[in-house]
Amino acid sequence: MAYVQKYVILTLLLLSIFCINQTVKCDDDNDDDDHLDEEDILLAGINSYRATLNLTALIENERAECLADEIADQFKYQPCTNTTGSNTVPGTEPEIFNYPNLLQKCHLNVNTTRDGVILPACVPNLDSTLVLSNYTMSRYSNYLNDTKYTGVGIGSEDNWIVVVLTTNTPEGRFW
Ligand SMILES: *[C@@H]1O[C@H](CO)[C@@H](O)[C@H](O)[C@H]1NC(C)=O
Ligand SMILES: *[C@@H]1O[C@H](CO)[C@@H](O)[C@H](O)[C@H]1NC(C)=O
Ligand SMILES: *[C@@H]1O[C@H](CO)[C@@H](O)[C@H](O)[C@H]1NC(C)=O
Ligand SMILES: *[C@@H]1O[C@H](CO)[C@@H](O)[C@H](O)[C@H]1NC(C)=O
Ligand SMILES: *[C@@H]1O[C@H](CO)[C@@H](O)[C@H](O)[C@H]1NC(C)=O
Repeated sequence: MAYVQKYVILTLLLLSIFCINQTVKCDDDNDDDDHLDEEDILLAGINSYRATLNLTALIENERAECLADEIADQFKYQPCTNTTGSNTVPGTEPEIFNYPNLLQKCHLNVNTTRDGVILPACVPNLDSTLVLSNYTMSRYSNYLNDTKYTGVGIGSEDNWIVVVLTTNTPEGRFW
C-alpha cells in the first residue's frame, strides 16, 4: 500500500516537472498563480501518512480551501524564518488580520468553524519533500493523526502553504 502511494506521489512529481519543462499549462482550473501541484502533492502525502495510521483519508472541503487561500494570500509577504510555520513556538503564530471578514468571504461563520484548525507552513519554493515533512514531522502531526479531523482545505501563495482541517461535527464542518 505504502509503495503504491509513494508511486502516486512520484508520478505527480514527475508530471509537475514535465509540465514546467514543457511550459504547458497542465492545470487549467479557474485559479490564478497558486501552486496547485504542491497542494495536490501535500494532500496525497498527508492522506498516505494517515493511511499508515489506519485513519480515513481527509475529504476536500471547498470553504476550508477558500479560507486557506485567503490566509496564504495574507501571509505571502512574510519571509520564512525558523519561527514561522510549523517551527513556530505555540502562541507566537503570525496573526491573521480581519479573520471574521475572511470567514464571511468564504461563506463561513465562527459557529461552524470553531473546532477546525489552521496550520500554516513557510517553505522556500514550496519544496514538496520539506512541505510534507513540515506537516508530518512537526507538532502538526498531532492534528493530522487525530480521528477528529475528517476534512481539509489547502491554499498556497509564494512560499506559504496553509492547511485547514475540518471535523464532521456541527462546530467544525465548515458549512
Ligand atoms: C492498521 O491495520 C492493520 C490491519 O488491521 C494492522 O495490521 C496494523 O497494525 C494497523 N496499524 C496501525 C498503525 O494501527
Ligand atoms: C533561529 O535562528 C536564529 C539565528 O539563525 C537563532 O539565533 C535562534 O536561536 C533560532 N531560533 C530557534 C527557535 O531555533
Ligand atoms: C452562533 O451561535 C450563537 C449561539 O447559538 C448565535 O447567537 C449566533 O447568532 C450564531 N452566529 C451565526 C453567525 O450563526
Ligand atoms: C520545514 O521547512 C523549513 C524550511 O522553511 C525547513 O528548514 C525545516 O527543516 C522543515 N521542518 C521539517 C520538520 O520538515
Ligand atoms: C499522534 O502523534 C502524537 C505525537 O507524535 C503521539 O503522541 C500520539 O500518540 C499520536 N496519536 C496517534 C493516534 O497516532
